[in-house]
Amino acid sequence: GNEAWLPSLMTQTPQEGFDLAVTIARKAVTTTQPNTDALHALRPAYAHDPDSLIEVSGVVATYFATIAEANEYWWE
Ligand code: HEM
Repeated sequence: GNEAWLPSLMTQTPQEGFDLAVTIARKAVTTTQPNTDALHALRPAYAHDPDSLIEVSGVVATYFATIAEANEYWWE
């Protein structure tokens, strides 16, 4: 719908920041390939490939770095 899916980069905790990083990474994939049949057909390939999983981890790490910076590393 018209509701923003990413209203803010700010999160209460680092763990919520990590979850947001995963959400953004997945959103990039579904934006690129909106066809859910295609996504489900390709899912087993990356889910069972260690190199793909390490790559997924790296993509999430990149988003997490941005989110952490935006939250000033949740410094208190
Ligand atoms: C499921 C993350 C790339 C297709 C998931 C889940 C996570 C995840 C965490 C499990 C969700 C859950 O069980 O609650 C990511 C990240 C990606 C990525 C961070 C990229 C950096 C892709 C790509 C495809 C894909 C490239 C397909 C081309 C799917 C599908 C599921 C899934 C279809 C649902 C599987 C099911 O429920 O049976 N993904 N994914 N994902 N992913 Fe990805």
